[in-house]
Amino acid sequence: MNTTLSLPSLLASSVAVAAAALGTAAFAQVDPNRMVDTFERVGGKFEGYRRSGAKGVCASGEFVGSAEGRALSVASAFSGRPVPVIVRFSIGGGNPKAPDNARSQRNLALQFDLPGGETWQMGNISAPVFGAATPAQFLGRLESLVPDPETKKPNPDRVKAFADANPEVLLQGRYFAGQPVPASFAKVNYWGVHGFGFVDAGGKKQWGKWIFEPVGGTQSLTDEEAKAKGPDFLIDDLRQRVAAGGVAFDFNLQLAEAGDRIDSAVTPLPEERRKITLGRLTVKSVSPDAGGACLTITYNPMVLPKGIEASADPMLAARAAPYAVSLGRRLGEGARQ
Ligand code: HEM
Repeated sequence: MNTTLSLPSLLASSVAVAAAALGTAAFAQVDPNRMVDTFERVGGKFEGYRRSGAKGVCASGEFVGSAEGRALSVASAFSGRPVPVIVRFSIGGGNPKAPDNARSQRNLALQFDLPGGETWQMGNISAPVFGAATPAQFLGRLESLVPDPETKKPNPDRVKAFADANPEVLLQGRYFAGQPVPASFAKVNYWGVHGFGFVDAGGKKQWGKWIFEPVGGTQSLTDEEAKAKGPDFLIDDLRQRVAAGGVAFDFNLQLAEAGDRIDSAVTPLPEERRKITLGRLTVKSVSPDAGGACLTITYNPMVLPKGIEASADPMLAARAAPYAVSLGRRLGEGARQ
């Protein structure tokens, strides 16, 4: 949906929301090695693989920005000229054999290679919320899920006690439980989850949260269809759809208004917020094997171009260090996928 914003509403929202972002208290960072160790303790250690988003595939594409994108931000991604994008699709979690036919997370990670050597990286997920509000809460949740050495299963009392005290950690699981299994990597919505500021030529900033929405709409499987597909169909399905020329996403931005929270990965913007289309991403090719240009990239959402600014969401800044730790480990072990 394309709509036009009035200047006063843009100004009011950017000033108020920016003030909210600056006023947010700084959260203590968590030791990134301990975080990645805990991922391994919960989900297992798989050498050479990403510690999250392990099962995936590299692809490449092209992004063309819209006039609305150009009006909102000076970022060169929106120039209207095609920009090459290094894409990675994946399943959430550290297991490289995670089933494709479960009600679980799909990921869309992108690196826009912009003129002048600038890059824009992001990792988007198939839920409007993340699984924790702060890095400390995320670590606490993971620690509550570490299997007991005797039973080899998480201690249910510990899991319950942590979730009771931190109800935000259940939001994402509830979302996935209520959604059908996506029919394709190409047929599900991917949310950025964090708030970002879009800065125009006059320095005016509009806060918003983005969603990549498949052109032609989403598509899902019934439980019977999902069972029949089995645990490994998403990558072949993607190759077929891309070869047929049919994989594209609209890069849409929900515009925050005064009073909206843009510093929380567990608080979506109200559904009725105006949405504009910043441009279209077309996936042009998929790697024929486990290699490709995405192998050595860690999609760090703090790598932003001029014209895009990070919000004060504590989960956003907290991603860079554990991603670097995961990259170091998997490259050291011999990167696979
Ligand atoms: C402190 C919080 C977080 C930690 C510790 C964490 C950890 C990780 C790690 C270790 C990786 C693998 C990096 C690599 O080897 O390149 C990863 C990938 C990923 N994360 Fe996170 N993450 C966090 C928050 C988030 C949030 C809030 C999102 C929501 C958008 C997210 C989305 C993704 C995606 C989409 C990938 C896959 C990227 C790819 O395909 O390479 N993560 N995460």
